[in-house]
Amino acid sequence: MHITSTEIRSKYLEFFKSKQHAVIPSSSLVPENDPSVLFNTAGMQPLVPYLLGEKHPNGKRLADVQKCVRTGDIDDVGDDTHLTFFEMLGNWSLGDYFKTDSIAWSWEFLTDKKWLGLDPRMISVTVFEGDKNAPLDEESIAIWKNVWKKNGLDFGDERIARLPAEDNWWAAGPTGPCGPDTEIFYYMGEGLPPAGSNKGTDSKMWMEIWNNVFMQYNRVDANTLVPLPAPCVDTGMGLERCTVTLNHMKSVYETDLFAPVLARIREIVGTENYTEKSARIIADHIRAATQMIADGVIPKNVDQGYILRRLIRRAIREFYKMGYEQPIIAEIAKMYIVQFEGIYESVRVNKEKIVEELMREEERFGKTLKDGIKEFEKLVRGFAIALERSGQKITIIAGEKAFRLYDTYGFPIEMTEELAHEAGLEVDKTGFNEAFEKHQELSRTASEGKFKGGLADSGEETTALHTATHLLLAGLRKVLGDHVFQAGSNITTERLRFDFTHGEKMTPEQLKAVEEYVNSAIATGATMIMKEVPKEEAKASGVVGSFWEKYPDIVKVYTLSGPDGTVFTRELCGGPHIETTAGMGTFKIQKEEASSAGVRRIKAVLEK
Ligand code: ALA
Repeated sequence: MHITSTEIRSKYLEFFKSKQHAVIPSSSLVPENDPSVLFNTAGMQPLVPYLLGEKHPNGKRLADVQKCVRTGDIDDVGDDTHLTFFEMLGNWSLGDYFKTDSIAWSWEFLTDKKWLGLDPRMISVTVFEGDKNAPLDEESIAIWKNVWKKNGLDFGDERIARLPAEDNWWAAGPTGPCGPDTEIFYYMGEGLPPAGSNKGTDSKMWMEIWNNVFMQYNRVDANTLVPLPAPCVDTGMGLERCTVTLNHMKSVYETDLFAPVLARIREIVGTENYTEKSARIIADHIRAATQMIADGVIPKNVDQGYILRRLIRRAIREFYKMGYEQPIIAEIAKMYIVQFEGIYESVRVNKEKIVEELMREEERFGKTLKDGIKEFEKLVRGFAIALERSGQKITIIAGEKAFRLYDTYGFPIEMTEELAHEAGLEVDKTGFNEAFEKHQELSRTASEGKFKGGLADSGEETTALHTATHLLLAGLRKVLGDHVFQAGSNITTERLRFDFTHGEKMTPEQLKAVEEYVNSAIATGATMIMKEVPKEEAKASGVVGSFWEKYPDIVKVYTLSGPDGTVFTRELCGGPHIETTAGMGTFKIQKEEASSAGVRRIKAVLEK
């Protein structure tokens, strides 16, 4: 027997129509009134208010195919079963029928020749065994046995596993409608299941195809279950899994939902470059991305948009891994558009937008991906050297480095982690989060215009260059003398430009000595401390500063000192500065020239 996903979808809806259910369209992937979740993760989610008692405009019996996204298992995508986007077939009783009809109809749909016509001998079920919240679901046991008897089957208890809440109690979240469920399984082994086999005795051989939840309670908090105004039924059948199981396939990628896309990817990259896992990840991620954009999500750095961005960027990288570096994502999406446009209006209406958004995001990321990968490889090479030097095992990628990959090259942190794992390394996620927060803080402050003094923006680069400016001044004063003061400063993301009071051209030796001062300070992994002190006190203690009159009575003094307490610079300043010189790079003077009478100008960079 072979059954397509399209047949399952349409037969399912047709069947429940014949049982007086109103077929309703899928809700958006993005929940309308629930900011606590990013995406709908089950068919019942958009229906929660109705399960809790609100009247649904289409009546008390509903059926649909609901688009869902689950991101919890994103790292498992590429195996046989895990997907980010999936379709859930569901039927609902909103205070209408309950266990008897629900179970009888599920059985009829699955086994009747008019519908799916599955061999009943391949099916077993589970029920809730009972705990302090609710008793053993004897009712469901009796109903199943009755259904089997009516169909001339002599199944007894051996086809019913009684399992704990972990398996047979269903809730969408920590609060909300919930209740015991009965789940239906299909045998995955060769031939018929052996006598006595069920989900309880032989878990691996049975694949869940349908979950019928008997919603009876509303969980209001961890300790309180309140009965629902009327008992409801919520069922869910994952379309992809069902298609695999019913066709006795091994993976979802063999089904008509994915196989043509995988074949196309093979064609695009060439059989010699093709790897199944990469192709699967691409197929899953672009499918989800297509549906997300259809529902109004656009690539961003937060919330749903971030998940979308992650999926797209990861898919692009998987193409790179297979040696394919041309724009391609939109072409894959077009295959899904054809597949889905007859089913989901959102896809039909937003066809062009889907293609445009994907092309735009691919262009954005394509620009930096290659450089980012080079940067990452440099990091890994750096590790090899560090390992050799110290003789100890260093396997952590610093948070700031990961942040740089994120900020400059657009690498979602999860991608950096993935690259790191592939190279046998870990990422300091806490450090990344800190760098991320610091950056947010700095951009906020910069956009509020708190920092003046020639700082164009306060991204990571400019902040590091600003700190380098302090070291430069200290170095100049050390090498040239105490007559040197700052006369001007201008920083871009690429370089610093620093004007200082000095009457003559510096010699190559002097320039070298200044560079060495700065670099030796950087090499110690010095840390910057800020202290607010009265201006007069700062002045008296020898803090270096120009334009004292411009500062308020309480001033900020930035002190950079090495781990042994050596003070490299102490300066009056508004900030911002980096916290540590670790990872700042190598300071290099590119040019020294006259600026105006008695003032010289240095241009310098930090080389990574
Ligand atoms: N709400 C149930 C599930 O998602 C049917 O499994």
